[in-house]
Amino acid sequence: MNEYKIAVIKGDGIGPEIVDSALRVLDRVQDKFGFRVNYEVFPAGGCAIDKYGMPLPDETLEGCRASDAVLLGAVGGPKWDSIEPSLRPERALLGLRSGLGLYANLRPAIMFEELKDASPVKNIDKMDIMMVRELTGGIYFGDSDSYSCNDILPDGTPKVRIAYDTESYSEGEIRRITDLAFRIARGRSRHLTLVDKANVLTSSRLWREIAEDVHDDYRDVSLDFLYVDNCSMQLISRPGDFDTIVTSNMFGDILSDEAGQITGSVGMLPSASLGKTGTPGMYEPIHGSAPDIAGTGKANPLATILSVAMMLRWQFGENEAADAVEEAVRKALAGGYRTSDISRGNAGEIPVDTNGMTDAVIAGL
Ligand code: IPM
Ligand code: MG
Repeated sequence: MNEYKIAVIKGDGIGPEIVDSALRVLDRVQDKFGFRVNYEVFPAGGCAIDKYGMPLPDETLEGCRASDAVLLGAVGGPKWDSIEPSLRPERALLGLRSGLGLYANLRPAIMFEELKDASPVKNIDKMDIMMVRELTGGIYFGDSDSYSCNDILPDGTPKVRIAYDTESYSEGEIRRITDLAFRIARGRSRHLTLVDKANVLTSSRLWREIAEDVHDDYRDVSLDFLYVDNCSMQLISRPGDFDTIVTSNMFGDILSDEAGQITGSVGMLPSASLGKTGTPGMYEPIHGSAPDIAGTGKANPLATILSVAMMLRWQFGENEAADAVEEAVRKALAGGYRTSDISRGNAGEIPVDTNGMTDAVIAGL
């Protein structure tokens, strides 16, 4: 029997609730498909700050490195908003991404037929986008600083203080992520869109140059380019026309929230963060810790459950089990089960809380 070891990080806010749901589904699916997943829980985020004075204890990073994969809920919350930036809960996430070398973030934005009504966009036919976001470079990890300054702006306004963050990409970073994106597009509808701001940014022009070069190895995949502002508009007006999108860390962060909301709720979107083949990937919902609804039972567990499906597929190659989880989610939606974020009060809807939705998915397995 195949055995896997995963590190589980529940985090803050709704994190523990949605991770517990996902683990219940994982327990059921491993029994059914005959493999074994052992897990160990590690602290990270705000709860780790409270307990250990730091968002990402060494023991957590080491535990993740020693696992086959990481399942993460969400980190952060208003409680930790005013602490020193280098100790914020979000640092845990960034530390895990860089510490595990997770340079590729896959964020599939799929519109379930049953949720068309929940989309803020009218008349969507279909939407099935794979967003490939670069995750360990760009402005998130570039040079940054802030300092006092006595200079004066041309109109006489004093500058007082300066703060900057730098968007910088190496050819190697762009090459490995665009190569992966082409491979992914090849397994889909063979169309890749590079989203950038090449009319303004030097780094974006390097992205275009490298993407065109990598394209030589993937002539069966078509490649086009879109400026990020235009892309955010096209996503709303013709979401069904996109296949695979590859983009930088910052643009991917923004566009994936937008794409997520078009599918009905950001509470539906899973993600996989991958590094070198054979190293542990991290699987998590794209949404945050939603502290306003923590403990109320309102959290939608589907993004985390679908993240487990991505783990089964991308990390373990347990494709049948992954299909079964995705199918069970579809069945729960078709059965009318709705957490409040995806409810439109339509006839036939069965309002459920986090546990109720989890039960519905498990029943579908
Ligand atoms: C995400 C989140 C993170 C990011 C934050 C919490 C640091 O928004 O995973 O999209 O910006 O990458
Ligand atoms: Mg984000």
